[in-house]
Amino acid sequence: MSRKWLRERSKDFWYKLAKKEGWRTRASFKLMQLDEKFELLFEGARVVDLGAAPGGWSQVAVELVGPEGKVVGVDLDRIEPMEGVTFLRGDMTDPETVSRVMEACGGVADVVISDMSPNISGAYATDHARSIHLCEMALEFAGKVLVRDGAFVCKVFEGDMFHDLLGKVRAQFADVKVANPAASRSASSEVYVVAQGFRGPGRYPPLAKPKEWQEGDELPPSRKERRKPE
Ligand SMILES: C[S@@+](CC[C@H](N)C(=O)[O-])C[C@H]1O[C@@H](n2cnc3c(N)ncnc32)[C@H](O)[C@@H]1O
Repeated sequence: MSRKWLRERSKDFWYKLAKKEGWRTRASFKLMQLDEKFELLFEGARVVDLGAAPGGWSQVAVELVGPEGKVVGVDLDRIEPMEGVTFLRGDMTDPETVSRVMEACGGVADVVISDMSPNISGAYATDHARSIHLCEMALEFAGKVLVRDGAFVCKVFEGDMFHDLLGKVRAQFADVKVANPAASRSASSEVYVVAQGFRGPGRYPPLAKPKEWQEGDELPPSRKERRKPE
């Protein structure tokens, strides 16, 4: 069995499984695997999905956040409508798109996920630089909308600027990991930066404080508790 054959088989595996289970793309499994490992999404969460077409990640997100949650997705390409998700078409490097996405998510998110990829030119350094630029745009956006303690996931093509990017993410989040989900193609240079515990200004508290809450009352459930309700 050649390595190439094994790679092809594994590629077909996720593709076929996605078809069988009704996911829009094999990429859905990458988010499922990241979520399983890092516990990112929870019932009621407000999620923004950057580079969302054709909608595989949004499909996973909307299922995990449930009817109380909110999912907004954006892409350069048009996305087939999906129940429970607001899709926008636009370029996340364009401030006008950023404003539209901010408006659609009400200026607040618990989790920002980005699977944005540049058009692959085949020139490694160019593709890497473009991928880093998209990550920086995603990080800047996340900094504007994330709640305190919020999470950020971003796909990046590895290369010499990767460590600088990691430094920028680490400056804003308490816990930053690099992950390589099983559903990523083994030949790909992509990895995912998974950042949790946003410690920026956090424009909003993680959950709206109940009106009747008084000093000394029990605090709202933690992200983990909210993720796994009884
Ligand atoms: C790998 S696909 C995303 C797959 C998606 N996560 C899914 O599960 O269906 C990468 C997407 O990033 C989008 N993209 C690249 N640059 C972008 C930009 N500047 N603004 C918005 N979307 C962008 C591409 O159009 C492409 O659809």
